[in-house]
Amino acid sequence: MRLKRQSETRIRTEEPLAPGQEIVRVVDVKRVYPLGHEEVMALKGINLSVSTGQMVGLMGRSGSGKTTLLNIIGGLDKPTAGKVFIKGKDITQLPDAELTALRRDLIGYVFQSFALIPVLSALENVELPMHIAGLPRSERHRRATELLQLVGLSKRMNHRPFELSGGEQQRVAIARALSNRPALILADEPTGELDSTTGLQIMSLFRYIATTENVAVIVVTHDPTITQIAHLTYEISDGVVNQLPAPTAVS
Ligand SMILES: Nc1ncnc2c1ncn2[C@@H]1O[C@H](COP(=O)(O)OP(=O)(O)OP(=O)(O)O)[C@@H](O)[C@H]1O
Ligand SMILES: [Mg+2]
Repeated sequence: MRLKRQSETRIRTEEPLAPGQEIVRVVDVKRVYPLGHEEVMALKGINLSVSTGQMVGLMGRSGSGKTTLLNIIGGLDKPTAGKVFIKGKDITQLPDAELTALRRDLIGYVFQSFALIPVLSALENVELPMHIAGLPRSERHRRATELLQLVGLSKRMNHRPFELSGGEQQRVAIARALSNRPALILADEPTGELDSTTGLQIMSLFRYIATTENVAVIVVTHDPTITQIAHLTYEISDGVVNQLPAPTAVS
């Protein structure tokens, strides 16, 4: 693979994240979309906080603003009002180059459709972000191998995406999201294309990586079993979030 390395300043420092360190703080976030002569008030005042080691679920009916909120937390969209702090830095005020660097260094994204590169093996897909970030070959090979083991795919490393099941492809995507040692993983309906049993395994894997890799994880889903897997779950309704009752059976 021959890729241009990125040259912006790296945001990430080498000091490890403390367990329970606040990574995301959303303060009074509002998002209004113009719609012809009217306005859609998608988010009316969102407040939440997510820390390392914590998996947080985000539920809500279709059109309730889940993707809008996730995109704002991930720096892909800006709120109409309010602030979003990632590791203490207000990303709503960052210049574009700094925001790009922060997103690359601190945030891993997992998508419903996996978004793997079809011509690359599982191992190469996981190595790709580290290649772009300029890590040496031996280091990225070591880290990608370790991550594929972590997600239970050590026997599938040289398979291409079309040779893997949906659940396996999503595991590769999760390993890839972890490759640059992010502080935060954002996943928008990551089990939407999976059957319920596989979906449950993937949700449990998110909880496992939140703890073992000490990252903050936010998972959007329609599946109410999230309340039994995530450390806490928010429901978004009428543009605000409310915490759902604490999970019962968790390890
Ligand atoms: N670019 C846009 N322009 C105008 N309105 C938008 C835009 N994006 C989203 N909306 C509106 O904002 C509201 C929230 O949309 P959003 O995509 O965040 O919902 P969601 O909870 O992710 O829904 P789903 O479960 O269907 O994915 C909806 O009313 C939607 O129509
Ligand atoms: Mg959505």
